[in-house]
Amino acid sequence: MIACQRDRFAIPAGVHYLNCAYMAPLSHDVIAAMEEGARAKASPWRYRPADFFTVAEHFRTRAARLAGVPEDCIAIVPSASYGLAVAAANVPLACGQEVVTLAGQFPSNVYVWQALAGRVGARLRTVERPSQSCWSEAVLDAIGPDTGIVAVPHCHWADGRVVDLEAVGAKARSVGAALVLDLTQSLGAMPVDLAAVDPDFAVAACYKWLMGPYGTGMLYVAPRHHQGTPIEHNWINRGGSEDFARLVEYREDFQPGARRFDMGEKSNPPLLMGASAGLDFLLAFGVDAIAQSLAAQTEAIAARAAALGLEAAPVGTRAPHFLSLGFAGGVPDGLTERLAAGGVHVSLRGLSLRVTPHLYNDAADADALIAALR
Ligand SMILES: Cc1ncc(COP(=O)(O)O)c(C=O)c1O
Repeated sequence: MIACQRDRFAIPAGVHYLNCAYMAPLSHDVIAAMEEGARAKASPWRYRPADFFTVAEHFRTRAARLAGVPEDCIAIVPSASYGLAVAAANVPLACGQEVVTLAGQFPSNVYVWQALAGRVGARLRTVERPSQSCWSEAVLDAIGPDTGIVAVPHCHWADGRVVDLEAVGAKARSVGAALVLDLTQSLGAMPVDLAAVDPDFAVAACYKWLMGPYGTGMLYVAPRHHQGTPIEHNWINRGGSEDFARLVEYREDFQPGARRFDMGEKSNPPLLMGASAGLDFLLAFGVDAIAQSLAAQTEAIAARAAALGLEAAPVGTRAPHFLSLGFAGGVPDGLTERLAAGGVHVSLRGLSLRVTPHLYNDAADADALIAALR
């Protein structure tokens, strides 16, 4: 078990923040890195053209290490929706084909497919989860000869139940379908072997489990798409952009690997330095150890919640960092507001209470949650 890291965050006594799936608090280190980044812009005479590249590569290196992929496969994006738009512009979908998604999937990973399907005459196939199970079997059953794209997360953002990505990847490949992943609610908190899953694209926004600021994200792009089409054409992604004196010698070639998909104005020191510090926090422990620690926290809460009559799925069916507590008699009115009044911060998603701790949580937070629920 990793020791509680609360002293690295500015969480006041009496605040029991169990809501990382909503957004992570920024650690002191992330805030310091963001301030340092802001100071760089305060004195642009010290900010050299080379810094536009080093700040971006600093982030890319860490993002690649966390995802366990080569640096050349990471693009810098501002949001999950941006990364999914890049994916939608680069995976084939034909008239009559299907895009497989989960019921109640996060909208950033639905609207983009509705729009694409509408344009080409394809349709969404929304998979329902049979009660009390994970999503894997239902997703595998839905993938068939008509599937063009499988667009799913590693765990559902509302119920925390998992999708077996290696099995889904293999099935998608077997029918020639593309695989696009939204890992915003899992990367950094739950191990994933992207080499084994082999997605076409996989995106994660940084402001939740990657402990970074809002407005940053990483997009994994499989090498087979490295010659693909970006959704915007900014100067810095083109070949030779290091030489600011020759930018209007317009060029057709791009910076190597996935860099052609980097967002415009990517070289934003406060955001990228903050996001890099968030990744450093996670890399120091490793995702396996973080997942084990979060599983221990959620299991302990689940056992105590069960004594109050609240149901939760076992780890395995659900992600280690994600607890969704079900109220057999329906969710009491004003529940989250009443919990927040007692300093306990969680989310209501659907008919369940979503409890998502991180390394800054301790036994006092679990005690406060259970006492408030009781
Ligand atoms: C699964 C999932 N994906 C993405 C996002 C955020 O999307 P975006 O970066 O497009 O704002 C969220 C936010 O709650 C989410 O839960």
